Amino acid sequence: MIVGVPKETFPGERRVALVPVAVPNLTKAGFEVLVEAGAGTSAGYPDSDYQEKGARLAASRAEVFQSAEIILQVLSHGSNDATGKDDLPLLRRGQTVIGFLRPFGSLEAAQELASTGATSFSVELMPRITRAQSMDALSSMATICGYKAVLLAADRLPRMFPMLTTAAGTITPARVFIIGAGVAGLQAISTARRLGAVASAYDLRPAAREQVQSLGGRFIELPLEAKDAQDARGYARQQDDTFFQRQRELLGNVVAESDVVISAAVVPGKKPPVLIMREMVERMAPGSVIVDLASERGGNCELTKAGERIVDHGVTIIGYINVASTVPYHASQMYAKNLTAFLLHLGKDGNLQLNMEDEISRETLLTRGGEVVNARVREFFSLPALTAVVK
Ligand SMILES: NC(=O)c1ccc[n+]([C@@H]2O[C@H](COP(=O)([O-])OP(=O)(O)OC[C@H]3O[C@@H](n4cnc5c(N)ncnc54)[C@H](O)[C@@H]3O)[C@@H](O)[C@H]2O)c1
Repeated sequence: MIVGVPKETFPGERRVALVPVAVPNLTKAGFEVLVEAGAGTSAGYPDSDYQEKGARLAASRAEVFQSAEIILQVLSHGSNDATGKDDLPLLRRGQTVIGFLRPFGSLEAAQELASTGATSFSVELMPRITRAQSMDALSSMATICGYKAVLLAADRLPRMFPMLTTAAGTITPARVFIIGAGVAGLQAISTARRLGAVASAYDLRPAAREQVQSLGGRFIELPLEAKDAQDARGYARQQDDTFFQRQRELLGNVVAESDVVISAAVVPGKKPPVLIMREMVERMAPGSVIVDLASERGGNCELTKAGERIVDHGVTIIGYINVASTVPYHASQMYAKNLTAFLLHLGKDGNLQLNMEDEISRETLLTRGGEVVNARVREFFSLPALTAVVK
């Protein structure tokens, strides 16, 4: 089977779904690899590197879609709401697409993808099980975002991060507070600590305490208990408005005393909780910085503007989206590793074999045979459960 890698088309996207070093993993397993010319350039991977590793180059995007049975993308239709639609006429029945599809974002987009007849797998739906860790693209991208969020904050902050004792006096370390200590939040703690800041974090999942502490961060305890804080998948559970109201009250002082707040508090498939209100921002010292990693889906801060950096009451609020794309070399390297591990899991001897008994295949499969077939996604959009098992 031919695995095709088209150039990403979302405006400003710099990642690529496959990097040269990953090509031999696929060719050794019997796949051929066809890469659109220039696909890796903006991530730092020239065409010649792909050729050296055994990939063929395609002169056009149309050629990739025509020749390949499997299409690997970063942002496919669904997560690419700017240009993703343009790929729909290029897809065909029996073809397989793997990428970020934002499966809980829009039913219409999922149905449009389904109507092409293509079989699609959403990397966002990868189960959080040990067996699937090497295929977990969400964790890879969250790692990049957590790291970059700290650098964005450090760049805007009118203070340094480390404590310094110099002949010109003592510089106190920056205080960085992280809300939501998942994969991105934990990476933000590590990065802030490496730069010498004092890092603290809060998460409603009690399990996060030990992880924060093991990275040298202080876990902020709030006299507040989340109901069933964690689901079986390890994600936070949605809480009610009373909980969020109380949480905001309790977080107010911590936010006010911080030089930098990085927020990455999300619940899958839900709008992120608004935890940083205008009054809280107004109490921060001028020059403080908030990096809202939840901005794409609405944000954790009331004042965040998705895709923008604004200054309000002297506080910089960064709501950039698609942050992982700003570190395209390593984001692509990690993503390519995730995709090849996934493809090698799905395929044998250069062919795909869909085994619906397998949790990884079943949970990630979004569309097949013209329908949105994923049980979780169907339930989320209140579609009737499919009676026939799609084999
Ligand atoms: N293969 C695996 O076993 C595997 C892989 C990746 C992640 N995980 C675990 O899954 C968990 C979640 O990972 P994630 O980063 O993808 O999560 P995520 O991106 O869905 O959420 C980020 C964090 O926000 C927190 N959060 C949600 N609402 C909040 C609120 N109101 N206040 C404070 N915090 C709030 C969540 O608890 C989570 O830690 C972590 O424990 C992670 O270690 C396991």
